[in-house]
Amino acid sequence: MSKTPKAPGGKIAADARASAPHASDATPEDRAFDRSRRRFLITATSVVGAVGVASAAAPFIGSMNPSRKAVANAQPVDVDISKIRPAELITVIWRHKPVWVLRRTPHQLEILPSMDSELKDPHNRQAQQPPNMPQGVYAYWRSIKKEYLVLVGICTHLGCIPDYVPQPGGSLGPQWKGGFHCPCHGSMYDFAGRVLIGSPAPLNLPVPPYHYLSDTVIRVGSIGGAHKEESWAPEIW
Ligand code: FES
Repeated sequence: MSKTPKAPGGKIAADARASAPHASDATPEDRAFDRSRRRFLITATSVVGAVGVASAAAPFIGSMNPSRKAVANAQPVDVDISKIRPAELITVIWRHKPVWVLRRTPHQLEILPSMDSELKDPHNRQAQQPPNMPQGVYAYWRSIKKEYLVLVGICTHLGCIPDYVPQPGGSLGPQWKGGFHCPCHGSMYDFAGRVLIGSPAPLNLPVPPYHYLSDTVIRVGSIGGAHKEESWAPEIW
């Protein structure tokens, strides 16, 4: 059981080494991207390690982790969300991409409807979420169940990994209400992954295809239901 959680992190680490530019050729933008990618690798390893510890206490969790074969074949990934605490974000790997699951607090949800004037696409007009998301007045959730936000954690500007910064204010200024901040060029996203005006990123963070297998397990990579076999991808990954 301890073998399986290492698969995604190890594979990604190998990819990162293979794609790293030679130091003498790297531009400042390359170096910023690499710093962010290294941070992602450390985060992914930490999260996978935490899953491993959880598996020892609750063996059934091990069966929810993606296998090497599942990752290589880009199969859907089943994620146990039952242990995520309020305001906690976990990262799983799907199609070699970091997929976040954030359990939003009542406060994080409350501020979403008031964000419209600060956002580039408050009403999800861009094709950055699959068709099984709520529409109309609850579209701002950008999730099937409002409490659990599922996003692909890749900035839509140049592909860095944004940081989860839930605290308001701080170094991001008094106007910052919490959300996700990209360290490469400063793009900011709210607690639904919607990009703030003034950010270089053009689009909201993508919501991957996913659906609920039960109250505590989601399947990332498949819309499920009538759309089960439908392949869907956002405008930009
Ligand atoms: S990659 Fe440029 S702001 Fe995120």
